[in-house]
Amino acid sequence: MLKKIVIEAGKIIKDNFYSAKDVKFKGEIDLVTKFDIEIEKFLYKKLKDIYPEFVIIGEEESYDTQLTNAPNRIYIDPIDGTTNFVHSIPFVAVCVGIIKDNKLFEGAIYNPILDEFFYAKKGEGAFLNEKKIYVSKENKLERSLVVTGFPYNIRQDEFTFNWNIETVKKVLKNTLAFRRLGSAAIDLCYVARGSYEIFYEMGLKPWDVAAGILIVEEAGGKVTNEKGKEFDLHEDKIIVATNSKLHDKFLKLINNI
Ligand code: IPD
Ligand code: CA
Repeated sequence: MLKKIVIEAGKIIKDNFYSAKDVKFKGEIDLVTKFDIEIEKFLYKKLKDIYPEFVIIGEEESYDTQLTNAPNRIYIDPIDGTTNFVHSIPFVAVCVGIIKDNKLFEGAIYNPILDEFFYAKKGEGAFLNEKKIYVSKENKLERSLVVTGFPYNIRQDEFTFNWNIETVKKVLKNTLAFRRLGSAAIDLCYVARGSYEIFYEMGLKPWDVAAGILIVEEAGGKVTNEKGKEFDLHEDKIIVATNSKLHDKFLKLINNI
């Protein structure tokens, strides 16, 4: 059921990928289009029908946000990678993460342009288009492919700017190569499928990462904050997701230990 809804939502992205998008600015560099809103409304309605007792929190119109600490809740990111969508770059995804009894329970991330549907349910593994996926087995930092993204407040906040620049320097000097593809949800899925060894980013929101964290964990990876503690969707600023083998080495690298 979740799969059907997320794929239907993805069709709205695909059908409008090259059309006029009615772009507005939520911040200096933070975009939103009429399709972000349309997809979020579509998902809200469909998900409310199947999960009436769940609180639903969406990126754009923040439905039910007064209840963000409800034990049963669903995070919706109608388009993760809105800047890519606006520029017709094919790394865009519909993202739904379900929390049950305060624990990640189910996650679905769909890139309709590449037709990649990533899915995980607690304890049942992670899947790409129905096929089980696993993180990479690489254990050398110097052979690892690393991906990140940059927060929308990077120009306003000096600490954020400096942390990002300094961390990029360390990654460039110590790993195989570096990527910035523009969708945190897809970055997490690509760690889960073994394409990247490491993903880290500062300043993400629960709807960007809830589904992807479960997908990484179910594929055998590890997700924490920068101190190596369980990542708290609301409290933690920095997320680190790896193939697990490289987790401690990467934390040491970014923390200068
Ligand atoms: C963004 C993307 C991007 C990341 C930003 C996110 P949005 O989400 O995931 O990769 O670097 O920090 O906010 O705004 O396209 O939903
Ligand atoms: Ca979004």
